Amino acid sequence: MRQARATILYNNNIGPSYFQMGLTWPQEPAVPGQFVMVKVSDCAEILLRRPFSISALIRSKGDPVGIELLYKVVGLGTRLLSKYRKNDQLDILGPLGQGFDLKDFSGPHFFVAGGIGVAPIRFLVEYLADLGKDLNSCQVFLGGRSRTDLLCQKDFSRLKVPLIIATNDGSDGDQCLITHPVALALQRSRPTGIFACGPGPMLSCLAGIVQKYQVPCQVSIETMMACGMGACLGCAVESAENSNRFLHACLDGPVFNINQIML
Ligand code: FES
Repeated sequence: MRQARATILYNNNIGPSYFQMGLTWPQEPAVPGQFVMVKVSDCAEILLRRPFSISALIRSKGDPVGIELLYKVVGLGTRLLSKYRKNDQLDILGPLGQGFDLKDFSGPHFFVAGGIGVAPIRFLVEYLADLGKDLNSCQVFLGGRSRTDLLCQKDFSRLKVPLIIATNDGSDGDQCLITHPVALALQRSRPTGIFACGPGPMLSCLAGIVQKYQVPCQVSIETMMACGMGACLGCAVESAENSNRFLHACLDGPVFNINQIML
């Protein structure tokens, strides 16, 4: 983990309220599921850093030279972040947290992403493709409120991973929650494992589904974080194994086995 000034390579508006930011970050390699804490401004209202999942590595001649962040403008911090331009600098802390456990990765997997939760899933799929893993038998499930919330479709197409989409309003794909096609797919075949990231209700629903079908599942959770380093307790999540115990999303996660935490 390092703290450093990173130079912005691009900060592109890719849809209503959605931005993709590239930053120089040659300091330390990141793995999918890890995040960075970004100091957005020195102004008193938003002194605290904001956490952002890493959505991709930026490479030059094969070597990682930067990271990409995908974010949605939802408040003052992200609104200020969207104003940054190429060559501006940001103070970054990272990479932080535990990424997805890939040591036993083999066979077909499901990747389930809801809304901006697609960021670590996109990184994960690309990372596995770069490792030479066969992703043809895998499946990405991408959900959002509306078609404008479905991000990274082109990336999944480029990586040749079959994609199923669903939207709450039916503006693209089936009109349902993305967990519905996941449950249907599990009735037909069992993947070796599932990786997921998205809003809490999506992950809660997924927890019930994977319990029914007994499929291993790792989830990257989205939670408030103030320090990113285990000091503030702002990211506490209740352990499913011991109700008196809390885990730190920033240190123990943000990736957890779905059975490890209360969702
Ligand atoms: Fe401060 Fe996790 S963000 S303890």
